[in-house]
Formats: sequence, C-alpha cells, structure tokens
Amino acid sequence: MNALANGNLLLIGWVNLFSYYLTFKFFNCLLIQNEYEYGKLITEGKTKKVYEVLNDPTLCLLQSKDCITAGDGEKSHDLKGKAAISTATTAKVFQLLNEAGIKTAFVKVINDTAFVAQKCQMVPIEWVTRRLATGSFLKKHQGVPEGYRFNPPLGETYLKDDANHDPQWSKEQIISAGFILNDLLIGKVEFDIMQHTALAVFEILEKAWATKDCTLIDMKIEFGINVSHEIVVADIIDSDSWRLWPSGDKRLMKDKQVYRNLTTVTQDDLDIIKRNFEWVADQLDYLLLPTSGLVVILMGSQSDEKHCKEIATYAKSLGLKAQLRVCSAHKSTQEILHILAEYEGISKKVVLIAVAGRSNGLGPVLSGNTSLPVINCPPFKPETISQDLWSSINVPSGIGCTTVAYPESAALAAAQIHALHNHMVWARLRVKQLMNYIALKQVDAKLKDLIL
Ligand SMILES: *[C@@H]1O[C@H](CO)[C@@H](O)[C@H](O)[C@H]1NC(C)=O
Ligand SMILES: *[C@@H]1O[C@H](CO)[C@@H](O)[C@H](O)[C@H]1NC(C)=O
Ligand SMILES: *[C@@H]1O[C@H](CO)[C@@H](O)[C@H](O)[C@H]1NC(C)=O
Ligand SMILES: *[C@@H]1O[C@H](CO)[C@@H](O)[C@H](O)[C@H]1NC(C)=O
Repeated sequence: MNALANGNLLLIGWVNLFSYYLTFKFFNCLLIQNEYEYGKLITEGKTKKVYEVLNDPTLCLLQSKDCITAGDGEKSHDLKGKAAISTATTAKVFQLLNEAGIKTAFVKVINDTAFVAQKCQMVPIEWVTRRLATGSFLKKHQGVPEGYRFNPPLGETYLKDDANHDPQWSKEQIISAGFILNDLLIGKVEFDIMQHTALAVFEILEKAWATKDCTLIDMKIEFGINVSHEIVVADIIDSDSWRLWPSGDKRLMKDKQVYRNLTTVTQDDLDIIKRNFEWVADQLDYLLLPTSGLVVILMGSQSDEKHCKEIATYAKSLGLKAQLRVCSAHKSTQEILHILAEYEGISKKVVLIAVAGRSNGLGPVLSGNTSLPVINCPPFKPETISQDLWSSINVPSGIGCTTVAYPESAALAAAQIHALHNHMVWARLRVKQLMNYIALKQVDAKLKDLIL
C-alpha cells in the first residue's frame, strides 16, 4: 500500500515535471517566434539580401552571401565562409561604433550570417575618407606620391551607380539631387552631418586599429535614414570597406585589394583572402575589450560628496571607471600617502581629481608626492571663488597640478589624459565633439526657419 502510494506520488511528480517542461517549451517557442519573423525580400545586392521583419516594421534582416566581387561585379567568386566572416566583422565594427556613441542602424546578430538592423532608406552615396593617398586617388591626381598624408583626412563622395562606375559627386551635386528618404530632404545640413560623421567614424577606427599596429589607409561607409527620419551609419562595414596595412606596410595588406589586384584567381588565392578576412575579424575582438581607465576622486570631506558624484557620472559617460575616496591634506596627511601608494602600486592607468574647498592643500600635496596626473576641481562657492581659487593655482614651484572649475570639465580633462592610451575613451571624446556640432547645426536650422 505504501509502496503503491509512493509510486503514485512519483508518477504525479513526473507528470508535473513534464507539464512544466511543456509549458516552458511552449512559451519559449512563442518568445523565439515573437522576437523576429522574417518577411519578403526587400532588396538583393552582390553580397547580401535584405528582408523585412514582419513583427517590427522599423527593422530589417541583412543576410550575407558567400560571394566576393570586384570591379562593379565584373569579377565574382564563391568564397565559402565569407558570409560568416563578413557578418562577424560588421557586427564587431558596429558594436565598437555604438559603444563610442555613433548613431548606427545595427541592432543585433541573429546567427553566423545574418543580423537585424533599423530599416532605412539608403542615401545612394559612398562616403570615402582617406588618410594616405593610394589606388584610384593616384590615378586621378598625377604627381601625388603614394602615401601622401591628408591632415585632416580627405572626404570624398561617390554616387552609387554601377552602370556609370560610381562617379565622384560634389557636395553641390548631392544637395541639388534633392534626395528625399523617409521624408527627410538631404540638404546642406544633412550633407554636413554625414560628412562630419564619416570623418569621425574613420578616425575612431583608425585609432582602434593603431592599437594593433595596423594603418587604416582609407575607408568607405554609407548612411541610411531610419523610419524616425534620423541619419544613421548603415549597411555593412567589413574587409571590403577599407584598406588596412599591418605595420603601415602595403605588402602586408589584409583587405579586399588583394582580390581586386588578381588577374586570374586560383583556389589558393581565395584561401589566402579568406584567411586575411578571418584575421581581421579575430583582431577586432581585441579592439572591443573593456577599458581600464580609472579616475580616483579624492574629497577633503564628505560634504563634497554630491560634487564628486557629479564628476563620477560625467567620467562614466566617457567610458572611465570612477572611485571616490575621502581624505584631508590638513587632517589626515599620512593617510593621503597610503592612498597614493595604493594607486601607484596597481597596473591600471590612474588620474587623480582632488576636491577640496577653501584652502586646497589636497591637490598640491598629492601632486607633490606622485607623478600621476592631478586635477583640482574645488567646489567653489560664488561668494568666495576669487579667494579660494588661489589656493589651487598658486602652488609652490615643482608642483604641476591643473585646476578646473566645473565637474564636467574635470571629467573631460581626466578623459583627455586617458585618451592618450585608450582608444575607446578617445572615441567617446571624439563623438562628444561630433554631437555638439550636430546639435548646433540642427538647432540653427530650426531657428533660422522660425518666422518671428
Ligand atoms: C532612428 O535613429 C535614432 C538615432 O540613432 C534613434 O534614436 C531612433 O530610435 C531610431 N529609430 C528607430 C525606429 O529605430
Ligand atoms: C540565419 O537566420 C536567417 C533568418 O532566420 C535564416 O534565413 C538563415 O538560414 C540563418 N542562417 C544560418 C547559417 O543559420
Ligand atoms: C597589385 O598589382 C600591381 C600591378 O599588377 C603590382 O604592382 C602590385 O605589387 C600588386 N600588389 C599586391 C599587394 O599584390
Ligand atoms: C611621497 O611621500 C613619501 C613619504 O613622505 C616619500 O617617501 C616619497 O618619496 C614621496 N614621493 C614623492 C614622489 O615625492
């Protein structure tokens, strides 16, 4: 009787478990299916297909193809595995750009060969940015030596028009074409925004590749207008989008130029090209590593906590880690040296920010005892600012701390120091400049048309 009861209980247990399992499966299926459903083909290019996402009309699916082409499609080969390498490359590049704050269409990877992006109407222009003169530039500008350096990088625009071999277009031609995409007219302001963004994208990737001793020679990107009428970097960015020379040596090139250059293409050639592309996709992992820049904000007393937290918030928005400490040059001098020793003894790169009101001994004492950079950011009170300022800036000889008046300035100054060794912090600063520029442009355009 007992055994039977136990058996029944066991059975009920299993049935329960099974029904949990079924319920789980059921909801899981719903979730997976509800996430994205793919609809009809929107467009097919030489190397990719774009599909609708049925359950979200603001998105689309980009499916890469195992195909490599050159010369407006005149040369074309199957290259097994290329779709996956291209998707991985694009996804990592866009993740890096998103992380930096650039507005892109990239949303997420679906599988090895497909990703979801914001659905855009594409601006039919290729935005080329060049740091060093090579390739077609040399043919068009006889007398310029290969490797001529453009400071700032040179921006060029080409109409996407295979039949006419993508003719170069001027700013005036693009504005005069009057493209209207997702209800946005591409005028002067929109041109300027895209040109400045293309330059920032190039510089961000150039800095990132430089950390792997690779020279980004030139690159092309495209823009789309998403359904909220916003300009975003769209399409794909892979080894077909740039020239990349390890150690700045053309013979070591890792981009599609190797393929363009071939008159006959053997399987061995294709294998080399594929290995190059794989190498690029793998290296991008190192460019995406989390940053380790640290800002230590030392306050003279807890009453400055709010001011310090403000600095920390700005610092975090620039990709830095922030830590708060309390110590006083006047009241806990020994402790300051212990804290300093802590930060001098770690392998992280550290910038110190000293926050002390009235007589600021903290910053100068720290600075006199370390070679780490020290930035004073005293919480000035308007009524005593002129007296208090002097204790931060009128320091004894041999002391090199700097002084700023606002929490945002302190974080920016610290970020600029970190940006010298950290390409992601550099990228955040670069995008901040870009966004300041874009915001001014847009507000100016809006106010200009206001009828008062
Ligand atoms: C369009 O782009 C802007 C800027 O990145 C973004 O804020 C907005 O959410 C995007 N719209 C859609 C529907 O994805
Ligand atoms: C990736 O996902 C797309 C869309 O669901 C599908 O068509 C394609 O076959 C998938 N590819 C692979 C390699 O799984
Ligand atoms: C590309 O081709 C040109 C002319 O055929 C040759 O001079 C050059 O060395 C080639 N470059 C590479 C990287 O193969
Ligand atoms: C910092 O202070 C300690 C203790 O006074 C001293 O030993 C050390 O040499 C000082 N370091 C510098 C860089 O002045």
